[in-house]
Amino acid sequence: MQEEQIKVLEDECREDEDTVMDESRGPLEESGYTRTNDSEEEEEEDVEDSVLEDIARFQDSFKGINKRYRLINRIGEGTFSTVYKAEDLHYHSFQNDWDIEAKENERPSSSPKKKAIRSSSRPRYVAIKKIYVTSSPIRILNELSLLHDLKASPNVCPLITAFRYQDQVVAILPYFQHKDFRDYFTDFTVEEMRLYFRSLFTALKWVHRAKILHRDIKPTNFLYSPQHSRGVLVDFGLAEREGTDWYHCNCEHDPVERAYRIKHSHHESLRETVGLPAMPSYPKNDQRPSRRANRAGTRGFRAPEVLLKCTAQTTAIDMWSSGVILLTFLSRRFPFFHSADDIDALLEITAIFGKRRMREVALLHGQVFQTNITSYSESGISFDKLILWCTNRNSGSKNSQTRVAALSEAERDAIKFLERCLECEPGKRITAEEALEHPFIAAPEEDDAKVESP
Ligand SMILES: Nc1ncnc2c1ncn2[C@@H]1O[C@H](COP(=O)(O)OP(=O)(O)OP(=O)(O)O)[C@@H](O)[C@H]1O
Ligand SMILES: [Mg+2]
Ligand SMILES: [Zn+2]
Repeated sequence: MQEEQIKVLEDECREDEDTVMDESRGPLEESGYTRTNDSEEEEEEDVEDSVLEDIARFQDSFKGINKRYRLINRIGEGTFSTVYKAEDLHYHSFQNDWDIEAKENERPSSSPKKKAIRSSSRPRYVAIKKIYVTSSPIRILNELSLLHDLKASPNVCPLITAFRYQDQVVAILPYFQHKDFRDYFTDFTVEEMRLYFRSLFTALKWVHRAKILHRDIKPTNFLYSPQHSRGVLVDFGLAEREGTDWYHCNCEHDPVERAYRIKHSHHESLRETVGLPAMPSYPKNDQRPSRRANRAGTRGFRAPEVLLKCTAQTTAIDMWSSGVILLTFLSRRFPFFHSADDIDALLEITAIFGKRRMREVALLHGQVFQTNITSYSESGISFDKLILWCTNRNSGSKNSQTRVAALSEAERDAIKFLERCLECEPGKRITAEEALEHPFIAAPEEDDAKVESP
């Protein structure tokens, strides 16, 4: 079995807590360079000289890798790794349960023409993820072990095997043909969005069932092929098991208990007696220990509870990030949120949800939200208005009925679903399992519907 080859650095486990706690990726990092190809044909690629040099360096530094794999191209350069496309030279010597394409071709329904193309002589491609040597061994072990646990989960890119040579670790994944998000997000129909999210929520249902938080849901980590209406979730580099580093948070109380605690808090007594200052303020010589929580993820996709340093984060954070992707599709703007830091990110959310909601959400996690920016309204802005404005359909109408009429019925359905994903309170947010049952996601595909109707 190939998985026996997993060699990780168990004996060198050491963790720099600060790095783990403060990991964050800027909003533009998610748009890092990727080379994609969603076509059925596997043509030999035109590779730049600098990439060929990089490949040669990698082959020299990782002894024996070229005996197993023929490196073809560099397909991704992320914050934590470089990913190469390669041909698996020993494919036929191993059991290949991970190969969904091969399985599909075994089915009698597949056309003889397709079968001929995908004969056994056809090259088999893999993605080699070279994890930077600067990554801590515990982080590498974490990524590989979570991928290993999820290997039977639909729509999650499985780990085939992993190798270590000296301080370098590589993960071998099936190569998944996909298209760059920026090439399709502006012209996806609502029906296509439905199929995209059906695929993403299927992956998340299994990830969340295993009590794993992905933590970095964003377009570059969900490799989607519009041609096949299928996607796979990748990059478990920031993922963690639910409950890791948990401390008690106010949001864990039932609403009655929480309301009681807030009413009797120091903040509330201060507010009742002297009132809150007009300008946001903070105590001099603050003696309280600073609050620490995992804020890993990509700015712009982070849920309010992550920004507010909730110490009991759940899998609901991934549903918020999925909501941000849907908002990107509907608004045709990418990246939708574009903040410089966490405070900026909170303010961007405030501009949509309004100050009242942000105050409530902050209190939910035992925090106080106060801003002196007068242009933010108390009640925020509706998604209808926001999407019309983003897509230049804002006729200036103040009448909400006329405004809504400017949205198609399909868009209105999508917005109703979006509200369930971008719910500020994590406990009320839709889960992946519920999302798959939601009419917006579960509706029959248009083609099926046509066949069924008389
Ligand atoms: N199995 C795969 N098949 C095809 N392409 C892949 C595969 N895995 C990764 N890639 C490409 O490599 C890119 C980087 O991979 P991944 O997200 O796992 O690494 P990363 O270093 O954590 O990236 P980032 O910091 O940008 O999130 C992906 O966005 C994708 O374009
Ligand atoms: Mg990534
Ligand atoms: Zn909380």
